[in-house]
Parts: sequence; structure tokens; C-alpha cells
Amino acid sequence: MKLAVLTSGGDSAGMNAVVRAVVKTAIIKGCETWIVREGYEGLVRGNSEGHRHAHSTHNGDKGTVTPRAKGTEHLGDFVHNLRYGDGELLKDGTGDHPGGRTLKGRYIVRVGWDDVRGWFSEGGTLIGTARSTAFRTWEGRLTAAHNMIKEGIDALVVCGGDGSLTGADVFRAEWPKLVAELRQQNKITEEQATNHAHLKIVGLVGSIDNDMSMTDLTIGAPTALHRICESIDNINSTAFSHSRAFVLEVMGRHCGWLALMAGVSCGADFIFIPESPPNADTWEDEMCQMIQRHRDVGKRKTIVIVAEGAHDSKLQPIRAEFVKDVLSDRLGLDTRVTTLGHTQRGGKPCAMDRILPTLQGVEAVEALLESTPDTPSYMIGVRENKITRVPLMDAVKMTREVAQAISEKNFPKAMSLRDPEFSE
Ligand code: F6P
Repeated sequence: MKLAVLTSGGDSAGMNAVVRAVVKTAIIKGCETWIVREGYEGLVRGNSEGHRHAHSTHNGDKGTVTPRAKGTEHLGDFVHNLRYGDGELLKDGTGDHPGGRTLKGRYIVRVGWDDVRGWFSEGGTLIGTARSTAFRTWEGRLTAAHNMIKEGIDALVVCGGDGSLTGADVFRAEWPKLVAELRQQNKITEEQATNHAHLKIVGLVGSIDNDMSMTDLTIGAPTALHRICESIDNINSTAFSHSRAFVLEVMGRHCGWLALMAGVSCGADFIFIPESPPNADTWEDEMCQMIQRHRDVGKRKTIVIVAEGAHDSKLQPIRAEFVKDVLSDRLGLDTRVTTLGHTQRGGKPCAMDRILPTLQGVEAVEALLESTPDTPSYMIGVRENKITRVPLMDAVKMTREVAQAISEKNFPKAMSLRDPEFSE
């Protein structure tokens, strides 16, 4: 099997551990391995002629990286260059990638064992991610299929959120038509068309939001939660010193998991989450009464957590700044707002975001090796502490249904809050 792995959508801690586990497991099981840079965008861009088989300019032995499996290109050099800026990557600011950097026209890179050494402790995604508009089009997917076939790749591991996994399933479903069209356009040979009749795909859920059904935990969510807890601990000491109130806005998109779990972990006084919108006419009173009670029993600090997707029962967004004004005006509390932003998403993965991706990466390769044209594309999850395989589309469908049900329960007359088209 010739397997490629990509990360897509918003980065999350643990994505590098996925790549590491997938590459190493696949090699142990006798597969050839590639990484795709910049998510689906890299599949569409592929390798410009002259670079596809390059073991050339980047691969001089600089003594900075360890030996690699025979026949692999040296991703380690690229990553080294990315980090330390002593190579061609950062000098090449002329690329047309939004990030302004290119790997000299190479997006699909053959990798070996040592290229991913130590990756499980790295934050973000070292192979890059992008939100690809090209891949959303038939033409884009046709080019992506062509690029994969040119490299001989017949299996794909996608680590991303629900939108990215939906994209993976669409790609697989369309694959026979894509191959037929490439053959018709004479872009691939009859032999290539036969050898690539079936695309194997597996998805792993990388998202800090923990917003996917049929899995208990998404890769990156534990680290983001840990990051929020650390921030609240820091804020607690200054809040206590000045007897202040803090309103913290946390990420999570449409999902309140991070806000709720952070509130439980840090003893927040009040929490706003999208799944449980407070009564638009009464929440200000209720919040003030609750916080006043806490102050009355001697609490010197107040922590209110607002999930970024929170809104009231009339669908009005609940903004941290507004909550701050309520606390200042009605309770006279000296109040500050802290938006944690992308500090929640970056940084080193916690232990759980190394263990989970490692176990799931192994399972992903096994699922691909067992894949037949009749088996569905699987999503690798975790339920009740066991690594699981579920049909990818069942998980995406259930995620949408749950969101819809919550929305209908809270706003029977309103439209669904969730975009029917999931973003990556
Ligand atoms: O889905 C992950 C996430 O971090 C959300 O929690 C947040 O709403 C969004 O991505 C932010 O996206 P961006 O990094 O594009 O601003």
C-alpha cells in the first residue's frame, strides 16, 4: 500500500503525533509513506514537474538530521528549515501559497522513519494545513486525484474536523468517476486506472472543539482544555489580588465543551454555552444574583466563562464585553475581559494528545490495510476508553443531527444555527 497522510482544517495539538504514528506504523507494515503539505490544498497543488522525484537541493547532508529510510526524501530538512529559517523555505517568500512559503513546488513528499522522529511533542501541525477552496470543486478534486495517481498513492489518512472528514468521504465516493475522467482525458494510462480503481480513506478527528459525535474525545481537545485551565489559574491569582471579576471568552465554535469543562475544572462562577442558551429576559438577573451570593460568602474573585458560540434564548450572541458591563454596572465589580484566542490551540500536546493519536494512528493504518471497495471509509474514534472504527459518514451525519436537535429544542421556530455546509 502507498499511503499519504494530511492534516486539514484548524490545527490542533496531537496532529503531529498522528502523522508520526501513521508513518511509522505504515512502514512497519511494509507500506510506502508520503505526507501532503497544506492539507487538501497540497493534494490539488501536487508536485510541479522536476520536483516530483526530487531528492535534490534540500537533501544535501548537512549533518543536522538523522539518517532516513532508503529512498525517502528528507522532510526533516524541510521542517528544520521551517523552524530555523536557514534553508530555502523561508528565503522563498515568492510562493503563491497564502503563507508566503513554498517547498519549491512540492506538496506531496515521500517520508521515512526518521523524518517524523520526536513529532509527538510538537504543537500545531508541522506539515501545514489550509482551508482549500480548490478542493471543494470537481476540477480541484480531479487534479488532486491525478496528483495522487502520479505518485502512485492509493490510500489517504485525513486528520481534521467534520468538514475535512466530509471532504474525504466525498473524494472517495467520487473516486471511480475521477479516475474515469482522467483516463478519458488521457492523463493516466489504462494500467494506472486499473491500479487505482479504489481509493482507501480513513479519518481521524483533529479538533480542539470536541464537537464530533461517535467519539468521546477529539485530538487536541484535552490540550486546549489544559491550556484554558492554566490561563484561568494565572488569572485567578491576579483576580484574587484585586478582588476583580474576569470574563473569559474561550473557543469551541458551536460547541460548549471547552467552556463547560474549563468551568468545572476551575470553579467558574457562571458559564455560557451554546447548547444551553439562558433566558434572554432573565439571565442578567440570574447571573448577578449568583455572583452576588458568591461574593456574600466571601469570594474575592469572580470568573465567568463565555463560549465563543454562546447566545441567549432569543438567538442574540452573548458577548464577553456585554457581560463585563453588566457585572460592572449592576454589581460594581472591577471587571476585565480576557479573550484566550489561539493560545488555546497552540503549544505542546499534553500526554492524552500523544497517546490518543498514537493509538488511533495505528488503528487507521490497520483499517486501511483491511479496506475493500465494499467497506465504508472509517473514522477512528475512542469510546469508553477503547479505540473504535465507525463509518465516517455515520459520525458526520450524527454530528449534524445532534446539532439540529439541540437547535430545534432551544429555538423551535428558528432556523438551525449550524451551517448546513460544514467548514473545514
Ligand atoms: O475549530 C477550531 C477553532 O479553533 C474554533 O474553536 C474557532 O472558532 C476557530 O477554529 C478559529 O478559527 P481560525 O483559526 O481560522 O480563526
